[in-house]
Amino acid sequence: MDIGKFLEQTAPQIDKAIEKYIPRKFSKDAALFKVVPPLYSYNLEPLNKAIADPIWDILDRGGKRWRPALFLLICEAVGNKTDYLEFAIIPEVIHNGTLIIDDIEDSSEIRRGKPCLHKNFGVDIAINAGNAMYYLPLLPLMMNREALSAEVQRDVYEVYVQEMINLSMGQAMDIAWHRGMANADTLSEEDYLQMCAYKTGTLARMAAKIAAVLSGADENLVEKLGQLAECIGVAFQMQDDILDLTGEEFAKSKGCVGGDISEGKRSLLVIYTLQNANTVDKKRLLEILSMHTNDQNLRNEAIAIIKKYGAFEHVKTLAERMVVNSWSEVDKLLPTPQAKEKLKAFAEFLIKRNK
Ligand code: IPE
Ligand code: IPE
Ligand code: MG
Repeated sequence: MDIGKFLEQTAPQIDKAIEKYIPRKFSKDAALFKVVPPLYSYNLEPLNKAIADPIWDILDRGGKRWRPALFLLICEAVGNKTDYLEFAIIPEVIHNGTLIIDDIEDSSEIRRGKPCLHKNFGVDIAINAGNAMYYLPLLPLMMNREALSAEVQRDVYEVYVQEMINLSMGQAMDIAWHRGMANADTLSEEDYLQMCAYKTGTLARMAAKIAAVLSGADENLVEKLGQLAECIGVAFQMQDDILDLTGEEFAKSKGCVGGDISEGKRSLLVIYTLQNANTVDKKRLLEILSMHTNDQNLRNEAIAIIKKYGAFEHVKTLAERMVVNSWSEVDKLLPTPQAKEKLKAFAEFLIKRNK
């Protein structure tokens, strides 16, 4: 199966579903007002300028839309026949919100090839719009109450809350480490994996678990699919870390090669190098990371140290092994072989991508 094509075909359907709940321009008919009508007035201009415009600005820049695609593949793999497309917007809108907020936290300049949202709209609007994106995609749940049992609704909200907490924990670890706080210079592989599971695995897990709950999977299968998705998310983040330091195509959307070095990020590439490098190289790498420099020569010097100790090969191999291992738990629980093959191809695609 051509996953690239599958993502291209799914993306416009997802965007259409998002538009149903988060309009490009608010009117009195907006879904939001159907759930809770305003008491005093419909003052739409600020909502358009400070919510709809920034949200659609980031959404219209593109993005792979792989989280809702994973959602749909999980529905299919569980053998579901109902159309839950509208609920697939939940992890994607949240993801785009996290990007807006994360770019402020990471002092980033470029997102999807253009200045970050806070650069164009201001930090105040960016934070508020990003936060709104954590809640607005729940509208499909609020508006389809009759179609879902109370139990299913409770489970979906519970998954949502758990994963949103995890997201903040992951960002906390990432931020504290790239600031050189806490134990940033002596981290283990396990520390990194936990940070990634929280930071990136969590929205994949949310996508898979909500899809599985809606599709009627039992508790055990929901949990196992969540674990598989988390693992795919972690492997995805590993590939992302590799591309940040090596990808030419990737650099176009991020503005430079090695932005993670400027950030001081403790990726597994860095952790592995710190564990294996000689004293001189280790000291130099830590020095460059602590500079938070935009000097490309220094970024290249750090990347060369990381390369010298074989970190790229190590991380790549680990990402592939993790995805293969995570299948063993789920393989026998899924009924449809075709959907399983698609899910496998999907995971492969995410860890072999170049942008
Ligand atoms: C970028 O995620 C942030 C990470 C979790 C590494 P994606 O690579 O999925 O971003 P888009 O949506 O395709 O731009
Ligand atoms: C993106 O994380 C945000 C989340 C995963 C919540 P990163 O900081 O690692 O990704 P980029 O480099 O900004 O895309
Ligand atoms: Mg970032």
